[in-house]
Order: sequence, then structure tokens, then C-alpha cells
Amino acid sequence: MAFVERVFSGVQPTGNLHLGNYLGAIVNFVKLQETHNCLYCVVDMHALTQPVSVWGGPAELARNTREVTAAFIASGIDAKKHIVFNQSQVSGHAELAWIFNCVARVGWLNRMTQFKEKAGKDRENASVGLYDYPVLMAADILLYRATHVPVGEDQKQHLELSRDIAQKFNNDFGDSIRSHGFNEGLFFPQPEPLITGPATRVMSLRDGTKKMSKSDSSDNSRINLTDDADIIAQKIRKAKTDPEPLPSEEKGLEARPEADNLVGIFAALSGRTKSDVLVEFGGGQFSNFKNSLVELCVAKLSPIAAEMKRLVADPGYVDSILIEGANRARDIAAETMKSTKDIVGFVRKH
Ligand code: TRP
Repeated sequence: MAFVERVFSGVQPTGNLHLGNYLGAIVNFVKLQETHNCLYCVVDMHALTQPVSVWGGPAELARNTREVTAAFIASGIDAKKHIVFNQSQVSGHAELAWIFNCVARVGWLNRMTQFKEKAGKDRENASVGLYDYPVLMAADILLYRATHVPVGEDQKQHLELSRDIAQKFNNDFGDSIRSHGFNEGLFFPQPEPLITGPATRVMSLRDGTKKMSKSDSSDNSRINLTDDADIIAQKIRKAKTDPEPLPSEEKGLEARPEADNLVGIFAALSGRTKSDVLVEFGGGQFSNFKNSLVELCVAKLSPIAAEMKRLVADPGYVDSILIEGANRARDIAAETMKSTKDIVGFVRKH
């Protein structure tokens, strides 16, 4: 069986989308629309895996779900040509996750490094959902038999688990899969990660060795997608640098994480390479470069912020996008679930 080239990716609605999410994920989502059928999902069920204090409670979850949707649309994701929806509206995610719970092995989940990081020292007190997170993620992807998954480096291990689950399901139910008319026992594809390159890894403005993060206690460490021009300017002017002028070649950025980060942001936002940026700014002072970076950031981000603001002010419209997207997602999901139930031997109405 040949699989349609289909992209699936998810973003958690846990607040404060920033430049790192934009350059590391969303820009890539926008580009993939030209070559693939894409589903972009606001994974509200994944948000619940962390303590309520992290996702903020019901009102915050709904607000953040709409805000991520608004960010997708404002950044250029076309919800008519592709599918934008929130996970909880399509019950197949939870249904398939249960079947995959019975395919995945405890030993596999015990090796997941992100669980260890997120659970911290008090592992006994982590939710069962947090432990099971990667299984739900596999269900997200395979419910649509997606073949390509744009994710950050940190999700690579979860993608490997998705492939292991797909393979074990195909093996365990091989005879049944064949008897239901699927070729060579292949039912679920092996989804491939599309890892975004290091050039789009955006670091904190206060510490070039740490990733830009919504959970950093200093708001000056990140540029939020909703920041206005004045705040963007302030944050970039305050961004940490070192006393040396900018180098003229890319190798001069080695061991200068803050300079490397700012040049990387400039390159990514302008669609140029870092060495090209250094041809223009190398040898000059940071203040001059920072002025140009402020201009560029404001030019690229303020139209997105403005559009997000407009969309968030119209929750009825945003909800209509999610409802319509979920309706279309459900049609694809229903096909997978019907076949999956038949393969497993669950009796259903025909
Ligand atoms: N775990 C992903 C993250 O935190 C979010 C996610 C959930 C996802 N389901 C997915 C990403 C399916 C890709 C595919 O970034």
C-alpha cells in the first residue's frame, strides 16, 4: 500500500508562543503546505498531562487553544486548503491511544528522557498521562497515517517510539491486516521526523546557552508573538552580548553563544545565511546590528501580532475554524479507526 505524503504536527496550548516556536516550528509548517497535505493540531489533551499550575486551568486552556490557532492562521497557515483543529474534538485520538497502550511496552516508555525531565524528582506524583504522553502522540500521527512529522530535536525519541508502535502493531496483527485487504501486513506507515535545523534553534536573549522558553522566569529572555514593537525593541536592546565587535565569518561565532543566537535570528527572519548576514554586519558594533535586528523583527512579527490580536478578539470565528477542521479530520480518522477495529477484532456496526 502506498501512503499519501501527509504531514501531521501538534503544538501544546500551554501559553506564550514565542519567536522560538515561530522560527523552530510554525515557519516550517507554513512551508510544508506547498508540498504536502497537512494537519496542524492544537494538542489540548497533551496539555492536561502536566500539573494544572502549568496549563493554567480551564479558562486558560481555552484561551491558549484559540491563541495557538490564531498564531497558525496569522502566520500563514491556510485552514481551507489544510486542516487546523484541536485534538479533543476528534475522539479517535483517545481511542487509538488505548489500542496503542496495549501495543507499547512499559520498557519502551521507561526509556523516554522527556518524561524523566518533566516528572523531575517526584516521579510518584507525575500523572499517568505524562507517562503515557508519547503513546497519545503516536496515536495523533498514525490516526491520519501521517508520513512526515515536523518536530524539534527534543521530540525525536517520541517519533522513534511512534515508529516502534506502528511496526509492532503491523507485526502483531499481520495476518489480520492481510485478511482485511492491506498489502504485506503494512497498515500503519513509519512516520519520519522532519527535524528543523540548528539555524532555527532560538536561544534565550539572556543566556545564549539556554533555549528560548515560555517557562523562563524572565520575560526579557524571549520575544512573544504578541509583543508590540516597543517591547520587541526593548528586549532586543537589552539582549545579552559580549564586548567584541561582530566577526566577519561564521566561525568567529564559535564560543560566542549570544552573538551566534542574534545573528541566527537575523538570518532566519530574513531568509539569509549567517555568513551572509556577517558580510553586512561583521566588524561593526552590536548597537548598530541590534537596530537593524529590531527593525527586521518588528517588520516580520508585528503584522502577525496584529492579526493574532484581531483573531483572538473574535473567538466565534476561531472556534469555527477549529470545528470545521475537526469535521474534516474526523472523516480521515474514521477510516483509520474502522479498519483498526476490524483488524483488532472489535465488533462494530457495518
Ligand atoms: N510533543 C509535541 C511537543 O511538545 C507536541 C505533539 C503532540 C506533537 N502530538 C504530536 C508533535 C504529534 C508532532 C506530532 O512539541
